[in-house]
Amino acid sequence: MKKLAIVTSGGDAPGMNAAIRALVRLGAWNGIEIIGFERGWEGVIRNRFRKLDSRAVSGILHLGGTILRTSRCEEFRTREGLEKAAETLAANEVDGLVVIGGDGSIRGAHALSRFTDTSIIALPASIDNDVYGTDETIGFDTAVNTALAEINKIRDTAVSHERTFIVEVMGRKRGFLALEVGLTAGAEIILVPEVKFDKEKIYDTLRKNAAKGKRSSIIVAAEGIGETRKLAEDIQRNVNTEVRLSVLGYVQRGGSPTARSRLLANLFAEKAIDLLLDGHRGRVVVLQKGGVTSISLEDSCSNQKPLNIDLLKLAEKLAT
Ligand code: F6P
Repeated sequence: MKKLAIVTSGGDAPGMNAAIRALVRLGAWNGIEIIGFERGWEGVIRNRFRKLDSRAVSGILHLGGTILRTSRCEEFRTREGLEKAAETLAANEVDGLVVIGGDGSIRGAHALSRFTDTSIIALPASIDNDVYGTDETIGFDTAVNTALAEINKIRDTAVSHERTFIVEVMGRKRGFLALEVGLTAGAEIILVPEVKFDKEKIYDTLRKNAAKGKRSSIIVAAEGIGETRKLAEDIQRNVNTEVRLSVLGYVQRGGSPTARSRLLANLFAEKAIDLLLDGHRGRVVVLQKGGVTSISLEDSCSNQKPLNIDLLKLAEKLAT
């Protein structure tokens, strides 16, 4: 392994910089030359990169976002795009490519692996935590804690004004963030895209809560359930409660990574370098039952990560 390239792709996640730093430092430790492609797959397609040495990654460990920038690259979904990216890797004599990103980026890495001899390793990093095979992605813990801190504040107003709040958290397709935030925030109701919800049941729960003396409620909803504003209006119309909607938005994607997100970034990076040095290719570094291991890109891309429905049931019991 002489030359390693790093790329961050898709939605940024807190801890991507920690992963870049760890890869560069561990790479340098092993005498590997490192480059970083800029703006996600776009940089690989257009051959835009910068050299990275240990000093180039000083002072970034605590920063959210990614110093390499990122993008959602449509061209990379085409055969031409993949071929161009493979040409860039060959032209630069890149032996190993580490892709830091979420579900979509890992699918991209898998597609590219069919066009190139470069060994590709993926590090799951996404606030959505929706990568199959890993219990957790880099950045997820930070996003959970960011959302939690905001809901703690919203709870003050909910209690003081005796209101119902719908708090919309990110998660266009999956509800991992909503589920963990909802459970840890003590939400009365959690709505995720994976489970169809019944408005009548929501009204009923809120009415029963009021009858039990609960004067305020928090509903945590993943953005993927859609139409949260309409839901707020419907609840207000059907239940004797004042309803407000708070969409947390991009505050969840940014910010300094928590210790846990940084730790995961460091451990994942260490595993990626070890895999490359041992001659592995086409792997996704994952956390399983507290240990760092890896699965194949193929395996990760051909399965869908299941949502832990037991956690939803637990949250329901805890909200009584
Ligand atoms: O990073 C994941 C995610 O935050 C999703 O939950 C969200 O729907 C999406 O990215 C938004 O992406 P973009 O900023 O590219 O529109």
